[in-house]
Amino acid sequence: MAAMTSPAAGLQQAVPRWRSDPFALGVASGEPRPDSVLLWTRLYPGAPRPGHAASDAEQAAHFEEKSGLTAYQYCVVSYEVFDNEALKKPIQKGEFVTYAARAWSVHARVTGLRPDRHYWYRFRCGNAVSPVGRTRTAPAVDANVARLRLALASCQHYEQGAYVAHVDMAQQDLDFVLFVGDYIYESTNPTYRLRPHTGGTPRTLDAYRERHALYKSDADLRTCHATHPWVCTWDDHEVDNDYAADQDRAYTQPGVFLARRAAAYQAYFEHMPVWPGGPGGAYQRIHQHWTWGQLVDMWTLDCRQFRSAQPCRDPLKGGGRVVLNCDERDDPARTMLGAEQEAWLAQGMRAANGRWRVLAQSTQISSTGVDTPVGRTIYTDGWDGYTAARSRLLQTASESGARNVLALGGDVHQNVAANLRERPNDPDSAVVASEIVTTSVTSRGMSMGALARIRASNPDIAHARSDERGYTLIDITPQQALATFRTTPFPAQAGAMLGVQGRFVVAHGHAGVEPA
Ligand SMILES: [Fe+2]
Repeated sequence: MAAMTSPAAGLQQAVPRWRSDPFALGVASGEPRPDSVLLWTRLYPGAPRPGHAASDAEQAAHFEEKSGLTAYQYCVVSYEVFDNEALKKPIQKGEFVTYAARAWSVHARVTGLRPDRHYWYRFRCGNAVSPVGRTRTAPAVDANVARLRLALASCQHYEQGAYVAHVDMAQQDLDFVLFVGDYIYESTNPTYRLRPHTGGTPRTLDAYRERHALYKSDADLRTCHATHPWVCTWDDHEVDNDYAADQDRAYTQPGVFLARRAAAYQAYFEHMPVWPGGPGGAYQRIHQHWTWGQLVDMWTLDCRQFRSAQPCRDPLKGGGRVVLNCDERDDPARTMLGAEQEAWLAQGMRAANGRWRVLAQSTQISSTGVDTPVGRTIYTDGWDGYTAARSRLLQTASESGARNVLALGGDVHQNVAANLRERPNDPDSAVVASEIVTTSVTSRGMSMGALARIRASNPDIAHARSDERGYTLIDITPQQALATFRTTPFPAQAGAMLGVQGRFVVAHGHAGVEPA
């Protein structure tokens, strides 16, 4: 029953008296391990004026009015965990202390659970009770597991459509949702504003908090969180489009940009069922290793925090761009993961016992370059801008002793099934891994014409569609990994049903994708 965090010095305990539901952002769970899960919620009694931006002062005054709590107080949130859906007799109870400096968020690590089974949970705070969430633990590390079924998703620009993909995911029998980035968008696109963001581009902690709260005001997203545990990594839009380590497109002074990154990271962790891995501030570890019995070893990777800046940047506007003849991209000193994460991954892949090795990262590994009469153009923000790092990654894959290396990605707003070779598209370079990239939940993709030019220049790509939105089911068994692209035709409308755009399979012991 011990509280998991101690209150900040000087705060007084208070019991809130809620005048509106403090669980308006729902409940969530994540980090499924064989004996533990992480339960999340945030006390947030709604926006001051829903649909409109509010100043920081208005937000604070609204919270105080609805809760009776001030920034000089802390409160206790209790939770109960059940092993049955009828919520008979909790198997565990606990408490978590929260306060304004952590945006009244709750991250309760529940340990001592049994492997490979569902649990249900709810929170209480003062006179309020949360909705019930369902979660599950991973199988024991040495267990023989018949199947892992996950939903791969990314890129859910709030303005650009309804979260029908989350409705579909919530209806599926999943072990977990694997979200590989662009959970919020900091930016707006005036062409597609079905439901506008409130507030402008966030740069401060309060503004990022408001953006996250807006995204979780979507009931379908909340239902998906309450139904399955999520395993997450991030991409760029959680902070700023195309950022690379301490660099942004505006060439902001790195110290200034890092302060913004610290605010964005803090707000991210405050709103996600993810524990901030430290060391702190602008530096937070999100990359992790996961197991699903003896079937799968999975690594969630961080492709933003440690990467070299994009090669051949425009001196007036940084970030990614399409370039011709950029030799800088081949510099072996360039990194996507950073030296430490790269070494950790290589060591982990060599030591892994799982039948499948899954790399969950935020973008597309296979090349999207386009051959032109004057040379090949590439997009510098993707792995094409980090060619030496890509060959090192694929070398590690081929040396790790198994053919069952499956890369999962997002970011590019298109479904892709591709073969991965150390030298892309070179038939003399063996296929050493397979890649599935999911389309976006809502964010718009490139034109099919542009994609056709990419297809024509990249025989390693077996499937590519940028015209539909959705997510991808991944079913992994000892015999195969099956990807089912579940999509709806553009644009996503509330109530739209998802269908199957295509299925691709990777057979055990044989790298490469085949239509299923
Ligand atoms: Fe995106």
